[in-house]
Amino acid sequence: MTDLLPVAASVETAAPVETAASVETAAAAGRRRASFNPLVVADVRRLTADAIEVTFEVPEDLAAQYDYIPGQYVALRATIDGQDVRRSYSICAEPQPGEIRIAIKRDLGGIFSTYANESLRRGDVVQVMSPQGAFISRHAMTGLNHPDELQAELARTAATSFVAFAAGSGITPVIAIAKTALAASPSTRFDLVYVNKAAMDVMFLEELADLKDRYPARLAVHHVLTREQRISPLMTGRIDAEKLAAIFSTVLQADDVDEWFLCGPFELVQLCRDTLTARGVPDDKVRYELFTTGDPKKPEGNIGRPVLLDESAKSVEITFRLDGRQGTVASPVHAQESILNAALRVRPDVPFACAGGVCGTCRAKLISGTVQMSENYALEPDEIARGFVLTCQSHPTSDTVNVDYDA
Ligand code: FES
Repeated sequence: MTDLLPVAASVETAAPVETAASVETAAAAGRRRASFNPLVVADVRRLTADAIEVTFEVPEDLAAQYDYIPGQYVALRATIDGQDVRRSYSICAEPQPGEIRIAIKRDLGGIFSTYANESLRRGDVVQVMSPQGAFISRHAMTGLNHPDELQAELARTAATSFVAFAAGSGITPVIAIAKTALAASPSTRFDLVYVNKAAMDVMFLEELADLKDRYPARLAVHHVLTREQRISPLMTGRIDAEKLAAIFSTVLQADDVDEWFLCGPFELVQLCRDTLTARGVPDDKVRYELFTTGDPKKPEGNIGRPVLLDESAKSVEITFRLDGRQGTVASPVHAQESILNAALRVRPDVPFACAGGVCGTCRAKLISGTVQMSENYALEPDEIARGFVLTCQSHPTSDTVNVDYDA
């Protein structure tokens, strides 16, 4: 599991030696080459005052590119006020032919989320990236990469118990996972702890109630409101270590859980992870996804940064392969730019979304040379061992670097 702590914040990475032991895992199963396609907005539904659900039509000829495993996300791209803006949003529904649904919650000052909440309408066309992400059940770790295969695997599995902690729009991937897991097997049990500031912020309130009606004995939803009084003091107020320990011991059957899903802001996810580790829960039972890196100093989308190109200055030669075509770009050493920043100068179609080390969209394999990867909240340890890097976070430390986006 990728480490969120500062120990992972700076990783010196060199091209790996290929071994026969290289194994495809869930992360690999959940990742494929990302590509943007224009999709038509089929519906926009308001979830709360600050959140919408957007349904995109997926035409038949793109169906194979847009099938997904519940828990994955798509990146959207739009030109807003002359700026190329990309943001990632989780898919919120179980797989349905011909459509894909996401939820977009307005962030304070968020360019894309504000635009979507205020302006997106049925019939609009948006550039949507093919689904990505490894926030998926470990039942997909056996190389499953199609939702039908996951459904079949879950149905075959004996009694399975899932627990999810979601905060705010962290419910988005979790509701897709819950719906799929509960429908796949009559022996699946799902406990959801869902944290919001107030009742008016709760997304998918009706869907969760319907789901609870459909599976009364197998789904438990525990709403925690941090700024509004609930009858139970345990379900009221900020979640700290003490409250979390109490929730584990009284509300959940925490020692009998097959898989944990954590989705929310850095602090809550990290607190849950620490608590689970302290309780002896192995890392491979815990999947997590972050909204933010929790580092306010990291400017989101530090991409397209202008670089002074002085031919007399010492440069690093960056070579990359993308969609079978080779590109080369010189990156001045003084600029200390990321591989992604440099590559975008010669190929605007180089894939990225968050530019903050969170989503994994800019992943490429380091073929030769060395890089310093400043942040990594997306790659699994086995991916790093096989030489994958996040190009938005990787800065060359050798004179030449060669990466492969197609790997
Ligand atoms: S673009 Fe999201 S991790 Fe690099």
